Amino acid sequence: SRIAVFASGQGSNFAALVQAQQEGKLGGGSIELLVSDKPEAPVAQRAEEAGIPALLLRPKDFAGRELYEAAIVAELQRRDIGLIVLAGYMRLISPVLLEPYAGRIINIHPSLLPAFAGKDAIGQALDYGVKLTGVTVHFVDGGMDTGPVIAQRSVEVKPGDTADSLAERIHQVEYGMYPEVVAAFAAGKVELNGRITTIGE
Ligand code: GRF
Repeated sequence: SRIAVFASGQGSNFAALVQAQQEGKLGGGSIELLVSDKPEAPVAQRAEEAGIPALLLRPKDFAGRELYEAAIVAELQRRDIGLIVLAGYMRLISPVLLEPYAGRIINIHPSLLPAFAGKDAIGQALDYGVKLTGVTVHFVDGGMDTGPVIAQRSVEVKPGDTADSLAERIHQVEYGMYPEVVAAFAAGKVELNGRITTIGE
């Protein structure tokens, strides 16, 4: 699969995916493009360092989300992208992107969905006082972190955890998990039936 990673921020998951590919751990997956809605974000610098092309567009330069996404779709099609991997991309996706890429957009979220969807899932988990949280990789639909779950891993909340210490433990799980799911997807092993997914052997 030819992959585009979408990211808005630090890009540590982007870096983990690139590293996995360099280590031969992304199976048939090949990261061909970074898409960011924040041209100044650190992730753009990471793409440059890794020699990966970047499409950096400011949504406010377009007359609406549809036109912004149409520009992205044109570039994805030009590069024959088959899988969209969201990694800290802080925007909802409209039908302009969802329709041509139905079943081919995945996201990673730092909680055990459906708990703590939306922004600051780690802060939400700490405030709620749960003892167990985790990471979810899921298909993307038009909602906020609402698509079918592909994989989940749990992470313990420890006494005295701060947002930083918990985030660090969650990130380490993400860096191992996301490349594995992307590799499974690239190998055609992820199947979706209604809301139920299976990862085959
Ligand atoms: C990750 O925790 C991911 O789960 C969430 O946004 C964060 C992105 O971090 N969706 P980074 O930009 O990959 O460092």
